[in-house]
Amino acid sequence: MEKLKIGVLISGRGSNLQALIDACAQPDFPAEIALVISNKADAYGLERAKAAKIKTKVIDHKEFEKRVDFDYEMHRALEKQKVQLVCLAGFMRLLSPWFTKEWRDRMMNIHPSLLPKHKGLNTHEAALAAGDRTHGCTVHFVRAELDAGPTILQAEVPVMPDDTAETLAARVLEEEHKIYPEAVKLYAEGRVNIIDEEVFIAGAAA
Ligand code: GRF
Repeated sequence: MEKLKIGVLISGRGSNLQALIDACAQPDFPAEIALVISNKADAYGLERAKAAKIKTKVIDHKEFEKRVDFDYEMHRALEKQKVQLVCLAGFMRLLSPWFTKEWRDRMMNIHPSLLPKHKGLNTHEAALAAGDRTHGCTVHFVRAELDAGPTILQAEVPVMPDDTAETLAARVLEEEHKIYPEAVKLYAEGRVNIIDEEVFIAGAAA
């Protein structure tokens, strides 16, 4: 079986990267991680990748004058490893319109809210402040606008009366680690179709 080559972009802890590493370690999983790129040299996710013997590359955004130059450097590294799908996993840089166009429909992100609710940072605090009864996470295709783009999968969790941002984040994170590998699997199986900016999953119940 020819596996789909993925490139994972990180900036930190890398627990979602770990979920992808673990999924890819299953012999029948249809994707493999060809490269992990971090914009931070001290990102813990790099250790995770190295432990799994995955190729890593640090590209420090501070060394580039223009955002698009940094993005081009990442693009070249991804192309070199013949990456077919880019997975953003806690990657804390905004991407240029050029990069998002180049990887359109070939780049996913995981966001810790039920998009379109609570875009941006501090989503757990926002869900609590809004008095939401449910919260969750979303895997979506990336567009030039922040935290926008067709939703591939979402997972919902209840918000408990005594939740803090930390307890809520932990409950959501557990779901992130399930739906990100699942979305990659569906994509690798060629089951993710985008029609008029909406995702349809082949073989899924309507
Ligand atoms: C996750 O909550 C993810 O949804 C968000 O950033 C966080 C990254 O965590 N985009 P990790 O680095 O994957 O542990």
